[in-house]
Amino acid sequence: MAIERTLAIIKPDAVRRGFIGDILKQIQAAGLMVRGLRMMRLATAQAELFYEIHRARPFYGSLCAYMSSGPVVVAVLEGENAIARWRDLMGATDPAKAAVGTIRKQFGIDVEQNAVHGSDAAETAAREIPFFFSALEIV
Ligand code: CMP
Repeated sequence: MAIERTLAIIKPDAVRRGFIGDILKQIQAAGLMVRGLRMMRLATAQAELFYEIHRARPFYGSLCAYMSSGPVVVAVLEGENAIARWRDLMGATDPAKAAVGTIRKQFGIDVEQNAVHGSDAAETAAREIPFFFSALEIV
């Protein structure tokens, strides 16, 4: 199986409620390697660009306002099959529908404030990782 990299975001709701450590601990316990890590606050325009693919969705405006409402933690995760493994660990988009033990089940509030983001495919990761990290920031 190929070694992959994926982008993880600990979203404003989880940062605000003090779950950075808990979430990073579960990422590492799952065997995913943290290769890049930064805390930052997105400007609304940056959130709009990042979530451009959802521009036509009814929740786009609210999503971008939320994602720029407070600091986030962005990370590059690496490992065998890392994209699917991080998505499995996150759980379903809606925390109410996420499996027990997943991060969204444990820490998500609702379908928007769902604690974490992860790239959904290799092509998405290839766009999302350089959105936040230069080559020098990935170790
Ligand atoms: P994420 O995996 O980051 O991808 C897009 C985000 O949009 C998603 O997590 C949620 O934060 C948000 N989102 C998805 N579906 C909805 C929805 N039905 N209503 C509000 N927000 C949503």
